[in-house]
Order: sequence, then C-alpha cells, then structure tokens
Amino acid sequence: MTDKIIIFDTTLRDGEQSPGASMTKEEKLRIARQLEKLGVDVIEAGFAAASPGDADAINSIAKVIERSTVCSLARASEKDVRAAGEAIKPAKHGRIHTFIATSPIHMQHKLRMEPDEVVARAVQAVKWALEYTDDVEFSAEDAVRSEMPFLVRIFDEVIKAGAKTLNVPDTVGYSIPLLWGERFKQLIATVPNSDKVIWSTHCHNDLGMASANSLAAVMNGARQVECTINGLGERAGNAALEEVVMAIKTRRDIFTFDTNIDTTQIVPTSKLVSSITGYPVQPNKSIVGANAFAHESGIHQDGVLKHRETYEIMRAEDVGWGANKMVMGKHSGRAAFRSRLQELGIVLDGEEALNEVFARFKTLADKKHEIFDEDIQALVGNEGDAQVSDYFRLVSMRAHSETGVLPKAQVTLSVGGKEHQAEAQRGGPVDATFQAIEQIVKSGSELLLYSVNNITSGTDAQGEVTVRLSKGGRVVNGLGADTDIVVASAMAYLNALNKLDAGEERAHPQV
Ligand code: KIV
Ligand code: ZN
Repeated sequence: MTDKIIIFDTTLRDGEQSPGASMTKEEKLRIARQLEKLGVDVIEAGFAAASPGDADAINSIAKVIERSTVCSLARASEKDVRAAGEAIKPAKHGRIHTFIATSPIHMQHKLRMEPDEVVARAVQAVKWALEYTDDVEFSAEDAVRSEMPFLVRIFDEVIKAGAKTLNVPDTVGYSIPLLWGERFKQLIATVPNSDKVIWSTHCHNDLGMASANSLAAVMNGARQVECTINGLGERAGNAALEEVVMAIKTRRDIFTFDTNIDTTQIVPTSKLVSSITGYPVQPNKSIVGANAFAHESGIHQDGVLKHRETYEIMRAEDVGWGANKMVMGKHSGRAAFRSRLQELGIVLDGEEALNEVFARFKTLADKKHEIFDEDIQALVGNEGDAQVSDYFRLVSMRAHSETGVLPKAQVTLSVGGKEHQAEAQRGGPVDATFQAIEQIVKSGSELLLYSVNNITSGTDAQGEVTVRLSKGGRVVNGLGADTDIVVASAMAYLNALNKLDAGEERAHPQV
C-alpha cells in the first residue's frame, strides 16, 4: 500500500466518449503533454481497437510522454488487447486496461455470455496483455450492479492471472458514497491477495455523486482514482479530477494521502480541454468555474478582504487562477514567441508552421494590446494538425449589419485550392455567413451547437467560437478564434467541415 493516491486520467478515452468531444491526434497530443505537466500518474490515451486513428494517437502519445504511464483500453478480446499492446509499445511506462461486464444485466443482455465464460475471457485477456507489459489493469464493468460473490471470484482469478490494478467501476453512476465505500471495504476484505494489488475506483456522475463516491472509495482502501478534467465523460461524465485532487489536498485532516498533481496546472488544463472539446465549463463549477473564487455579496467581500479564510477554503492561485500572464505584445520577437510556445508545450511541425503562426500573432498584436497565454493557445488552434486538412479555407469575408437592414455576408473560400464566392442575407451576420459558406460547400450537415466565449477579459479579447456539426452519424467540433467574432465563426465552421471531411468510423468500447 502507498500513501499516494494514483491519479488515472481518462479525459482522452472516457472523456472523448462525450458526444461531439472527439479529438484529432494533434489535439490529443496537446492534452497529453499538459496532463503530464499537471502530474497525472496514468494517462488513458484512448481505445486502440476503436479505429486506426485512435491507435495512431495512442502510439504518438506513447512516444512523447516520459513520466506518466500511457494506457490503452481494450475489451477482453484478443484483437483489442493486441491492438492496445501494439499502440503502447513505444511508451516508457505502458499499461493495458482490459475490461468485461460482470453484472447479470450486462452479461445476459449485452454480452449474452454465461458467468463462467466471462471469467475465462477476463483471465485470458489479462494473459494476452501480459505479453506486452507487466502493468495490466482489469475492470469489472458495471461492478456497481454486479453480485458480490461473482465480483470476488473474477477479481481473485485475474489477480492469479497477473493483473496489478483492479478497477471497480460505477459504470451507470448509481451508487451513493456510503454504499460505494462499503463495496471497497468488503472487496478488499474478501478477495484473496487483495493487498498485492492496487484497488481503483471509476465513477460516473449520473446522480451527481461521482467525486463523492470516489472519495468514499479512497477512505475504504482505493488507491487509484479514475477521473477526467472538468468531469468530462460518457453521459453525465466522470468524477472530476480537480474535485478529487482538491478535496484530498484541502481536507488533509481526513485524507492522509497525497497526489503527484501540481495543482497550479489545474485551471490551465481545464481551459485547454474546454477549448479543444468545445465543452464550456459552467461558471459555478467547483475549482475551475469562472465564479469559483468570485465573491458577489458585500458581506463576503468584506470578510475576504479582512481575512481571506472567512469565505475561502482554497487559494485561487493554488489551482492556477490568475496565472495567465501578459506574455507578449506587438514588439515581441520571433525568438521570444518560439520560447513561449515551448513553455506552453506547443510543438509545431517545422519552421514554416512557426512562421505562419508568428504572422498571425503579429496581426493579432496589432488589434489587441496585451496577448495572454490563452490567446497564443487559441492562435495555434489546429495548426500543424495533419489530420485536419485545409481543404476548405477562408480567403476573405465581409459581413454587414445595420439597424433596420437584413444582415448580409459575402465569403470567398478556397475549396481544394480553387476559389469560390457566395453571399447570403439572414437574420444575423453569423447566420448569413454560415448560409453563404453552405451555398459553396453544400455539406448538408446539421448545426448542433454554436457558442462564443471570450478567451481573456476586455472588449478587445479574442472570441473563441465552437461549432458542432453532425453528418451521417458523426459529430465534430470546429474551433475558430479572432477578435472579430463573425470571422471566428466562419473559421470554426470551416474547421468543423474539414474535420467531417477527414473523419473515420470508430467503434465504441462499451458496445
Ligand atoms: O464506465 C466504465 O465502466 C468504463 C470501463 C471501461 C472502465 O469506462
Ligand atoms: Zn466509464
């Protein structure tokens, strides 16, 4: 047993299962680098058998990550486990996480397997995984609704087969802290050799108790918590990393453990994940919401000014608020820009890409006085992302709005290198712009979401636009940033169209 809680981040796998949150390889690489900087112990980088693109992304992450363990999920089948094994091969520390459902409802209706067959499959999957790494994790999917004697039996068998981490998922977010803690206590007391493995908790948030349940598991013997940034994940999401980590850190009187997380990286990581996935963080979200440390009432403000601890249990700077620095302005040079990119963990593909982004930085610096880290992150966007082509590219645009006149937009696009022009009139300039783009592209896609967020404060801030499009069952997010939000909107729309164009079919792990 260790006094450290292992933080297993599954933003790139369970988080990516949030509708529309699918990420390109370059986006995943950026998040993986940031997760390593944050100090997570294990990065679940994806589900290799989902598609060649997923396997490639895990493989690329495995090549660049040095300290964190890189893990791939695999169903308990030979094909999945071998795909995971190949994908993590370059990793300094690689893990295979294999799973099979153990509840009567899943075994009967989803797997259509007898319990004996499920045990045999689990044992075999662990053995295949051990051919690639000795760091093998086994999950009993839907453990929350599984029968205790069967859980004890399957965990006993996979320990004998060589699994080192046993994960107990509340797949459907059904438990409550009291029961979840009890489940860990019983399992650890009953499963033979339970002290030879790490017990892990993986909780979903359907009843809003994912973090509380995870902490109850920790109080009853779990030493690994599976979680995601901003609580992203399937349906209502997973336990939020920031909540679990800050609860452990803030309530030292209860949790006598530590994590390897550099908590000052929490907010930057949250912002990066939010901007890449297009999932905004609600303002009142604990730790990472914009209002998490804002005091509105006069009595509270007065109290905080007199003595911060009157109303604050954590310090905003400890979780990375206020760390955004004015890094550059219009006089900053190329060398300083390059070194700032390096500090932000942004790797561009060669000098040409750097020149291109630097030119955009200069244009932005002409329009915006102070440039923050977040501006640079947005500026880089999908630069150098080989998976996202610029088949559809904005050449120029004009949008007109005036009171009493129907807004009008005119766009010139390059489509596969050939220029096309169109114009449209609609209820608003963004709508007119999208309509003009559609006249040229004729994508037939459905707009599921359109949102604008200011990247930094002030009226000269860049607006970051997220556009979520759906076509033929695929859902993609497009991002665009500019000080002109109509231009940012056009860029986001085209980014989404380019992603739709480049997409591939993927399997879902739990289907
Ligand atoms: O929720 C779940 O059961 C999972 C498993 C694959 C661990 O995500
Ligand atoms: Zn899950």
